[in-house]
Amino acid sequence: MELSAIILAAGAGTRMKSVKPKVAHEIMEKPLIRYVVDAARNAGADEVVSVVGFGREYVIPLVIDDTTVTVQEEQTGTAAAVYAARQAFKGKEGYVLVLSGDSPLITPETLKELVAAQQAEGAAAAVLTMTADNPFGYGRIIFNEAGEFERIVEEKDATDEQRKIKECNSGFYCFEVQKLFKALYQVSSDNAQGEYYLTDVIQILREQGDKVMAFHTDNTDECRGINSRTQLADASKIMQRRINEYHMANGVTMYDPDLVWVGQDVEIEPDVELLPMTFVLGKSRVGSGTIIGPNSRVKNSTIGRNCTIDETVVIWSTVEDEVTCGPRAYLRPDAYMCKGSKAGSHVEIKKSIIGEGTKVPHLSYIGDATLGKNVNIGAGSVTCNYDGTSKWATHIGDDSFIGSSTMMVAPVRIGKDVTVGAGSVITKDVPDHALALGRARQVEIPDWKEHQAKKRAAQMNMMDM
Ligand code: UD1
Ligand code: CA
Repeated sequence: MELSAIILAAGAGTRMKSVKPKVAHEIMEKPLIRYVVDAARNAGADEVVSVVGFGREYVIPLVIDDTTVTVQEEQTGTAAAVYAARQAFKGKEGYVLVLSGDSPLITPETLKELVAAQQAEGAAAAVLTMTADNPFGYGRIIFNEAGEFERIVEEKDATDEQRKIKECNSGFYCFEVQKLFKALYQVSSDNAQGEYYLTDVIQILREQGDKVMAFHTDNTDECRGINSRTQLADASKIMQRRINEYHMANGVTMYDPDLVWVGQDVEIEPDVELLPMTFVLGKSRVGSGTIIGPNSRVKNSTIGRNCTIDETVVIWSTVEDEVTCGPRAYLRPDAYMCKGSKAGSHVEIKKSIIGEGTKVPHLSYIGDATLGKNVNIGAGSVTCNYDGTSKWATHIGDDSFIGSSTMMVAPVRIGKDVTVGAGSVITKDVPDHALALGRARQVEIPDWKEHQAKKRAAQMNMMDM
């Protein structure tokens, strides 16, 4: 069976009080619409069409890579939004899921159940429904006396009697493609809001003799739409719990899962510990035996096995096995820490390879550098990689020892097994096995206090005269 999906994302979401449309807001740094695109794909949709409109300049970049983007110029209702996607469905067979871009909690499992139920019934349309304690704002599911699903009535069009109905339209649907688009032509805007309602398609299909069905889900949380910042926070909390429970079931330890935020696309092996105030976001991976936190942030990075990432920020970087970072290290984009290496406290590393077993233990900056194996960088050393105009590279060979507070003025090459004296400013290449010293020679003046006393006495005499 051919399955595609349409994601409605043209609305403004005025209650967010934002310049951005609501589907571009984020839960754990992933835009709401991306959750819906991924759910559609994982439910088996091979083509996904995004309908964008309000604030499209924010939304298009989020979906252009892997969905077909169509624009709804004016937001005249959900039926009009689906209609805007018609070009993508010319001559297409099969079924189409219609999803709301502002409902990120929907799971592929529930969508698959919706599709399976529809197939089993041979229905032209299946609507995912839920029982809401407070149904205000939702479309109500109307059954006739024979218990058949007849139509959906919107809050603003409902009678007082209908408003008492608690069975609601979740806003997720599956339709037979060609039947949906044919029925859309018949939708009018003759209602309380003067909008073209997608929900009217149910009655239209039924009246022309097609089967329609309401598929109830008990997972009410999955149907939550986000209209305000409070609802965004509530959905974030639900997502956080859902993801953390998944990882804990897989063998990840969290002392306090309320204080750990793991993005939906993160992979974590068993026996990882995530300590409080830790964020692991983006497309990150964490290997077994590693401890991250407290107070750490890992984003779009790969962390190997048996590492310690303590009060550290790691962004777009790679950390091999048995690496120690922090407390308070900062690995900026393209830091590559080889096996057994170390970036200690107050160490910043950017676009550099730190070789196997190499240690940068304290207060250093390493940028645009390649460090060999078993190098030791003394406290407070800096690769001076920027001359005010361009960035330059530093190379340090295996087994070299860089004394504390060394300034390596790039471009510069320090060979293998080199010793650099503390406090050096290295401006020229250093050959293998050499000792390099680049500092002023020490001077001693003996009996300095006595010398000063004599000088002061002489000055007093002058003043007396
Ligand atoms: C809709 C349903 C309602 C259901 C509820 C579930 C209709 C008429 N009503 O109501 O039965 O209970 O969802 O949350 O469909 N959109 C567009 N273009 C438009 C209008 C909306 O793309 O012209 C998008 C919005 O961005 C949003 C989605 O469609 O992602 C739903 O629109 P919204 O205005 O939130 O619908 P509701 O009034 O909540
Ligand atoms: Ca609305």
